[in-house]
Amino acid sequence: MKKFYVTTAIYYPNDIPHIGHAYTTIAVDILARWHKLKGEKVRFLTGTDDHGKKIEEIAKKHGQAPKEFTDRLIPKFKDAWKKLNIKYDRFIRTTDSDHEKLVQEVLTKVNKKGDIYLGKYEGYYCTGCEAYYTEKDLINNCCPIHKKPVEKLREPSYFFRLSKYQKKLLELYKRNPNFILPKFRQQEIINRVKEELYDLSISRTDFDWGIPIPFDKKHVTYVWFDALLNYITGADGFWPADVHLIGKDIIWFHTVIWPAILLSAGYKLPKSVFAHGWWTFNQEKISKSRGKVININELISIAGVDSARYFLFRETPFGEDGDFSEQALIERHNNELANKFGNLISRVSALAEKYAIEKTKNNLIKKLKLKEIEKHFENYEFDKALNLIFEFIDRCNEYVQGNKIWEASCLDRGKKLYELADSIKAISILLSPFMPETCEKIAKIFHFKISFSEIHKPLKIEKIKKAEILFKKI
Ligand code: MSP
Repeated sequence: MKKFYVTTAIYYPNDIPHIGHAYTTIAVDILARWHKLKGEKVRFLTGTDDHGKKIEEIAKKHGQAPKEFTDRLIPKFKDAWKKLNIKYDRFIRTTDSDHEKLVQEVLTKVNKKGDIYLGKYEGYYCTGCEAYYTEKDLINNCCPIHKKPVEKLREPSYFFRLSKYQKKLLELYKRNPNFILPKFRQQEIINRVKEELYDLSISRTDFDWGIPIPFDKKHVTYVWFDALLNYITGADGFWPADVHLIGKDIIWFHTVIWPAILLSAGYKLPKSVFAHGWWTFNQEKISKSRGKVININELISIAGVDSARYFLFRETPFGEDGDFSEQALIERHNNELANKFGNLISRVSALAEKYAIEKTKNNLIKKLKLKEIEKHFENYEFDKALNLIFEFIDRCNEYVQGNKIWEASCLDRGKKLYELADSIKAISILLSPFMPETCEKIAKIFHFKISFSEIHKPLKIEKIKKAEILFKKI
């Protein structure tokens, strides 16, 4: 059986999850469901990145210990994923004991190999990014991403010999042109790696909310050396990952630092890393400080779970930035889901309840561009897959309308209804990764199983009942 292992970035549990976290997590859910449809053995890993200075500081503000603080936030993440109908296999936390053990083992291994040394870190640190910057990265002495002042650090630190892996990384990008996806993001990374790679500071002594370095307990490692390794801890025999889905802001860590750690520790490399774009809200950056955050309850309350899941992947090509607006979501819900998809299901199910359906060859389905749709799924082109599925929904609606099925002769009507019902089966199976709840309802009405191979099997004729309204217009 073919295996498929896919992961989300693990999120900082410093607040409740918002649309940015939901975006990666739904994308992974769509991919996982797609590969399950295809009969593959799938592993889907998500979780939280509990350590680091940022969490420690926020916990302190709340008068809590970091563990206590994060323990209270984790249920909010789990609850959000449940509401969004996300089916992961493991929710990992970097504080899980198997993970802490693995990180220490890897540190020991990499140290023995001579890839870790004690040095002195002198430079700048942004707690928002949990990352180091050099003077030339800064803009007006501020972090280029958070635009906030950075901390000047001068302290002993263990370093990972990232510089040693420059050549191997460049070879990797050449050998595997799908390692960094989308392709338009490759060149920037390659250029930066070619220019110069600095060794990476991986430990600190001025706080302790991290994993103790096994060979020097005064130091803790946290965030990147710690967090990235979650993908190995949670693999459960599925390593190497087929794809890590992440946001574009953390592409450097996943396509440079991560493969270097794996090369040093002697693990296989993931097959690819796909970086998606960022959402803005009414053209403004989503930011907590300015009050522009869309949390999961808000997202769902606009038009329901399936419409939200659909919208995020129809509105913008995956990989590019998108702008979220309530109006745009409502328009797609009304025009595409209620008027087109919902209407097709309701008309065909109503006719099939009233008139007998007659088994025949489905010629209508020739208009479904199945091979192209599969290709789009494989290439993470979710918007294009959806476009083609909805093109076919249009053809089906025209078929109902143009043929005036209700006026046709009994036999002819029965056959046309069969073609439509069988086409609805294909449509719903293909849409099920995006809208699982709705598609399961349709599967019950038309009596089919949600599995890719069912697309090619003729629909069994059983009594069909008129569907309830699937998408109420707003
Ligand atoms: N903990 C690290 C990741 C470690 S992975 C080994 C981290 N966490 S985060 O909580 O800050 O961000 C997690 C993810 O959310 C990132 O992939 C980021 O791109 C994504 N998003 C945060 N805001 C976003 C938007 N506004 N839009 C889309 N995704 C964004 O980084």
